[in-house]
Amino acid sequence: KNSEKDHCAPKKCNGSLMQPSNMVCDPRDGKPSVESVRKLAKDFIDQYFASMKRRNDSEAHGARLDEVMNSIDSTGTYELTKNELIFGAKTAWRNAPRCIGRIQWNKLHVFDCRKVTSTYEMFEAICSHLKYATNKGNIRSCITFFPPRNDVKTEFRVWNSQLIRYACYRQEDGSLVGDPANLELTELCERLGWKGKGGRFDLLPLLLQANGEDPELYELPSNLVLEVKLRHPDAGQEWLEKMNLKWYAVPAVSNIMLNIGGVEFPGVPFNGWFMGTEIGRDLLDTARYNLILPVAEAMGLNTKKTASLWKDKAILELNIAVLHSFQDDNVTIMDHHVATESFMKHFSNEMKLRGGCPGDWVWLVPPVSGSATPIFHQEILNYTLNPACLYQPDPWHYYKWKDSVMKKRKNKLHFKELARSVLMTSRMMTKAMANRIKATILYASETGKSYAYSKSLQEIFNHAFDAKVVPMDQYDICNLEYEALVLIVTSTFGNGDPPENGEYLAQALQKIVRDSKEDQYVHHTNILIFITNNSVKVSTKQNSFSNDIQSSTQGVLANVKFAVFGLGSRAYPHFCAFAHAMDTFLGELEGERLMEIGEGDELCGQEESFRRWAQEVFTSACDTFCLREQVNLEDANASLSTSKFERTDFRVVVHDKQVQPNVIKTLGTMHRKKLSSCRLIRRKNLQSEESGRSTILIQLETKNCENLNFCPGDHLGIYPRNDPDLVKELLSKIRDATDENTVVVLEAKREKRSIIGNLKYWEEDTRLPPCTLNMAFSRYLDITTPPTPQLLKLFSECDVNQEESKRLEVLSQGQSEYEDWKFLNNPNLIEVLNQFPSIQLEAALLLKQLPLLQARYYSISSSPEIFPGEIHCTVSVVTYHTRGGTGPLHHGVCSSYLNSITDDEEVACFVRTAPTFHLPLKDNIPCILVGPGTGIAPFRSFWQQRLAEIRKGVNSIHLVAHNGCTMALLFGCRNPNHDHLYKQEVAAAMKEGAISHAYTAFSREKGKPKRYVQNVIMSEIPDFVYDIVHEKKGHFYVCGDVTMATEVNKTLLKILCIKGEMTKEKAQEFINSMKTEERYHEDIFGVTLRTYEVNRSVRLKGKEKSESLSHK
Ligand SMILES: Cc1cc2nc3c(=O)[nH]c(=O)nc-3n(C[C@H](O)[C@H](O)[C@H](O)COP(=O)(O)OP(=O)(O)OC[C@H]3O[C@@H](n4cnc5c(N)ncnc54)[C@H](O)[C@@H]3O)c2cc1C
Ligand SMILES: NC(=O)c1ccc[n+]([C@@H]2O[C@H](COP(=O)([O-])OP(=O)(O)OC[C@H]3O[C@@H](n4cnc5c(N)ncnc54)[C@H](OP(=O)(O)O)[C@@H]3O)[C@@H](O)[C@H]2O)c1
Ligand SMILES: Cc1cc2nc3c(=O)[nH]c(=O)nc-3n(C[C@H](O)[C@H](O)[C@H](O)COP(=O)(O)O)c2cc1C
Repeated sequence: KNSEKDHCAPKKCNGSLMQPSNMVCDPRDGKPSVESVRKLAKDFIDQYFASMKRRNDSEAHGARLDEVMNSIDSTGTYELTKNELIFGAKTAWRNAPRCIGRIQWNKLHVFDCRKVTSTYEMFEAICSHLKYATNKGNIRSCITFFPPRNDVKTEFRVWNSQLIRYACYRQEDGSLVGDPANLELTELCERLGWKGKGGRFDLLPLLLQANGEDPELYELPSNLVLEVKLRHPDAGQEWLEKMNLKWYAVPAVSNIMLNIGGVEFPGVPFNGWFMGTEIGRDLLDTARYNLILPVAEAMGLNTKKTASLWKDKAILELNIAVLHSFQDDNVTIMDHHVATESFMKHFSNEMKLRGGCPGDWVWLVPPVSGSATPIFHQEILNYTLNPACLYQPDPWHYYKWKDSVMKKRKNKLHFKELARSVLMTSRMMTKAMANRIKATILYASETGKSYAYSKSLQEIFNHAFDAKVVPMDQYDICNLEYEALVLIVTSTFGNGDPPENGEYLAQALQKIVRDSKEDQYVHHTNILIFITNNSVKVSTKQNSFSNDIQSSTQGVLANVKFAVFGLGSRAYPHFCAFAHAMDTFLGELEGERLMEIGEGDELCGQEESFRRWAQEVFTSACDTFCLREQVNLEDANASLSTSKFERTDFRVVVHDKQVQPNVIKTLGTMHRKKLSSCRLIRRKNLQSEESGRSTILIQLETKNCENLNFCPGDHLGIYPRNDPDLVKELLSKIRDATDENTVVVLEAKREKRSIIGNLKYWEEDTRLPPCTLNMAFSRYLDITTPPTPQLLKLFSECDVNQEESKRLEVLSQGQSEYEDWKFLNNPNLIEVLNQFPSIQLEAALLLKQLPLLQARYYSISSSPEIFPGEIHCTVSVVTYHTRGGTGPLHHGVCSSYLNSITDDEEVACFVRTAPTFHLPLKDNIPCILVGPGTGIAPFRSFWQQRLAEIRKGVNSIHLVAHNGCTMALLFGCRNPNHDHLYKQEVAAAMKEGAISHAYTAFSREKGKPKRYVQNVIMSEIPDFVYDIVHEKKGHFYVCGDVTMATEVNKTLLKILCIKGEMTKEKAQEFINSMKTEERYHEDIFGVTLRTYEVNRSVRLKGKEKSESLSHK
């Protein structure tokens, strides 16, 4: 028993004591005082919040401290959150003075098994632990937490000192066979009914104690124990093989206690990997296998004279053999030189990061060639920090057996050989692991596809993991480092930007990367530039996890496995850029990339690419977490192509209250947005009658609603209504459609357990509010986007005739037939139902499966200073014939809606700020605005803003002339007589001095060559443009179609090369620097100009590429 006298004092050093009192926690000393627990808890919670940089300044920190202190005052202890537990475990390792392998402290996998209640559950958890840790020899550090100590009487403990240990048998002559370190435990197991085989390397059973009850024995499944047979690498050294020595691969210490912030965990098996000398000592030390003499004799050494150093020679050769055998079998092991060097690296990291690193020199210096290692020459201070790893007495020294039970055990061989068969262990493991390993699927999406893909991914991952789907903007970044598996599914918007709900996570991750790489990091104020600069594919090899035992794992995500899938379109120059940026961020933070990023091009096989990626990443995750053998991959993969919709599990019923909730409120809740209602003041067609097309100016009244405050450059999001004729036609095709005034709800069948058996009941499905079918299809659901392969699959199950069923089956595979069909026809739901008239459609299927109708964005075309209480939009009314002009006429949902609304309708809208597309803060900075067609929309708000300033006198005409306040507008349209939008307004703004220059490019003027804005820039005003962007450090704005924006960008590049005499690379660098300085702005509407042609040519290229790849 240790006592105070074991501490070092001014005149004595206890540095070589095995268990000095400050490293021991003995339950016989009684419970720690409330005061001491409070102190440790406060310190720990402070450390935890400091680690997230949320100390002191966060409400969460204060609230958590209050909660913990209250709990300690009333119960004497508190419960650690899962993240605190992980942080505590890693820090305890980091603080362990005797551990040489601490450089890996951040790479510790935590199994949280604090909810186990029985020894059997403990046994299951230990099996999972061993399988995960062993990893076919590529050993991974992990720790399993059993419930903390409340009272010694309810303790959970592993009585073995390590999970894998060899037994020791005392012979009649008093000699020992096996590992003497385990003699006591072997004898105890035998008393409890275990019968060993009497060999030198018999695996001891596990002796597990739950809830303070008598411990129970469990045979360790041998298939979970990896062992290495020892042999010597050199020829002529066969003596070792003949000795038949072996050792186990995973050193999993199970008798150490962890104290994390005053919470004591007596049962916490944990493992790293061996340093070779440890096995050498296990076999050679006199108190262990004591093989030094037999080895020396087998080697033929002269053992008579100590000065022959025969012992040293034997030790050295055995150590060489241990290292060789492990390495030869691909089992992780460290030699003491690597170990000490990595420790020195860790030591120096810690001195920099924490100003110290506790270390026990006596333990750290290796038992072989100490002075040849750097630690020998390093002064190290030894002290204890909390969280801490502590010794505790072996339980049989203080445990009070429940007498009668013990007697019974002695007489009756009550022995649990539960897990002998591989099959049984497998089943058990699936259950145990699936319960424990969480997979977090983070998505960011503008139009809902990434969300739908995330849900499919969840389906497949739930076959082996506990998967949940979280939108990026609702994810607390502080949890990231504690995740086991993170899957990211995201699209890209703008021109390489994140979807709106991905921006926050992108910023947060960028900040972490920046903080962690202070010295090497090029600072970008603009995340978007960072993204486009990082949109390069990184291969798994380049940045994959390697169990590099020497490397430092300072990376925040050292313990997190991840994979990323990007949705995008190759019609955009920065294809899947945001997904690439996320992949780069996670890699830079040292996350372990499970697979190369997956990319899904919406113009070519997006669905198919996703499925392939999802299956591969699932298989890879199963391999990584050792779940492959237990999972039926075929079943799991099948879940990707089958949609989870059982007709009998859903029904549409008449709602008891025949009122519909307010549409705007409902849309707001549905889309998690603060929506406001606007009314139409005026609508005007900006094109002439002869044009045959419409671009409308919409003036909406905002009534100065606060939520609708905006700056010029911002966007207005509008939730449209579907075309009433289409809705009517759809309703006529639904078999069980209710009449147009009946309010209905969708209900889903649920099941719950009760004392009288399983109860089935119907529950309202809350995705949609109670509403009429007409309302559902008009305002809430998307009925014009072509149905997904999954939906077609469900249609094929709606009593369809054979012929149609066959075709639907083919399409629902989501492969090239589907892609071609979708691209050519762009079919809306009604057209699909017309193509397959035998589909017997029910309302429930559509209410459950159709995607939600999404908002459309419009660049605001007015200044609040000129039109207070109003928002204007310039909207091109979308109409086109499918099949490249030969198919049926389609009308764009929102633009047609805006072209038809009356002034008594409420328009559901919200403002989306576009800070990267605002005017420069100073008025005298010159600007060039390029916006052909509807691309002129935001620039109207710009010139109105300048007009307002001029009118206020802030910027008089006089000043404009003399300060060179250039605002040059470049507009392009087809014909000056048809679609020259805002011609008069521009002329008036020029007169007042708001616009300094206006240039136009006409593309379809009779008898004249085609001219685009980029042609005007290149041929008419290259010097002007060069002067503004290069000499005057002005701003350059481009708005509208992505192809146009790309061509304008290339034109600017050319001008810089010619006028600035720059190389292409230098010119590109210059444009990048303009982006970094936020002088180059883009507002991209999508592929709007020549949609069919552009998409067709990109698709053809994509197809050619994938065909040539499949030929290779
Ligand atoms: C940031 C931003 C700002 C925007 N600002 C404006 C603006 O100021 N003014 C404006 O008018 N628009 C603007 N848009 C575009 C706008 O958001 C809508 O996309 C547009 O109005 C079409 O919506 P819709 O509902 O009418 O058409 P939808 O029903 O969404 O139909 C459009 C779809 O039809 C298909 N399609 C279109 N033309 C063809 C064709 N020729 N051949 C085959 N398929 C075709 C394409 O799949 C296209 O995506 C902006 C977009 C963004 C992202
Ligand atoms: N999301 C959507 O699908 C969406 C959104 C908005 C608008 N639209 C559709 O897109 C069209 C846009 O109408 P709009 O008024 O904005 O523009 P527009 O009138 O079609 O075109 C404006 C000008 O840009 C030219 N142009 C075409 N390709 C160009 C390129 N690569 N670079 C530079 N200039 C180019 C056009 O020339 P030419 O055509 O003569 O070659 C025309 O002179 C409408 O048909 C509308 O239905 C679709
Ligand atoms: C306005 C707009 C801009 C886009 N910009 C890009 C882009 O820069 N890069 C890209 O790969 N895809 C781009 N896309 C394509 C989308 O990423 C693609 O449609 C994706 O499938 C949408 O997925 P979501 O529904 O999850 O948002 C853009 C699409 C639109 C409408």
